Amino acid sequence: MNERQGMMVLANCEGGGGMKAAQAALERGGAGLDAVEAGIRVVEADTSVVTVGRGGAPDLLGVVSCDAAVMDGATGRAGAVGNLRGFLHAVSVARQVMERLPHVLLVSEGAERFAGEIGAEPAEMLTDEAWARYEQWMRERVPVGVRARLPEGDLAKIAWESCNEMTAGGTTVFLSIDGNGDIAAGTSTSGWAQRYPGRLGDSPIIGAGLYADNRYGACGCTHVGEMTTRACTARSVVLYMKAGASVREACLEAVRDLRSLKGGYLGPVVIHAIDRQGSPCVVSTGPVVKGLDYFYWGGGAVGIEMRRAEIAA
Ligand code: GLY
Repeated sequence: MNERQGMMVLANCEGGGGMKAAQAALERGGAGLDAVEAGIRVVEADTSVVTVGRGGAPDLLGVVSCDAAVMDGATGRAGAVGNLRGFLHAVSVARQVMERLPHVLLVSEGAERFAGEIGAEPAEMLTDEAWARYEQWMRERVPVGVRARLPEGDLAKIAWESCNEMTAGGTTVFLSIDGNGDIAAGTSTSGWAQRYPGRLGDSPIIGAGLYADNRYGACGCTHVGEMTTRACTARSVVLYMKAGASVREACLEAVRDLRSLKGGYLGPVVIHAIDRQGSPCVVSTGPVVKGLDYFYWGGGAVGIEMRRAEIAA
């Protein structure tokens, strides 16, 4: 068990900027969900993080949309939003789905209607920098005739152009344990850059992109969300721990599941997990250009540490 009643926070490489806010939420006596939400909100507002929130990458039509979710390991309650446009903090809307509705996942117009009803902060999510990256990518990858017809035309023909590590996936993941020993998980992403409009990744899918259960631990995934959706990775990691595996054994078993997938776009996945004592394990299915660093605060005097994920053999 960690120091200070077992409190801890783990965030993936994109989440470093939110670690202090998450730590502070726990030190104030907040719940694990408060920590996860506080940390992710910082990342969502930081335009230098180009895979999450404002400043994130648009879809093939140049529209920024966000996916996010939270899960409470004490109760199994969860809330999520997908394809949310025009609001700064998808994670807070996701949390309010959990708190106020009899539902788990809202998407598109329904999610935006709900965000308006609860007074969520509206924002222009597309920045000049993100638009410039989008335009450059479109110029380099999409024939001029196809570009000239947008938003009409057959986008399926160009959907495969963005299948590489620099564009496919990108998420922030936070896992925490609060002073009561309650575990929480949260995710947020602006999704795969230049994706087909309407594409949801794993981040808002409970059991794929995240899962938390006080009895065993929690898990959150980054990179290619189609793969963790197909393999139900986050839930699998927690189930492997339920079956008696250590957190590392559970992650490595989930890597084997991911490696057994055939067909579709198969790229890297990084699995972030904790057991119920807060012991972390972060494993990548292979070398990645970005995403091997992660951040850990174990509740004690050591402070926030930057650590390196293991690459599964
Ligand atoms: N893992 C984030 C996504 O696939 O959108």
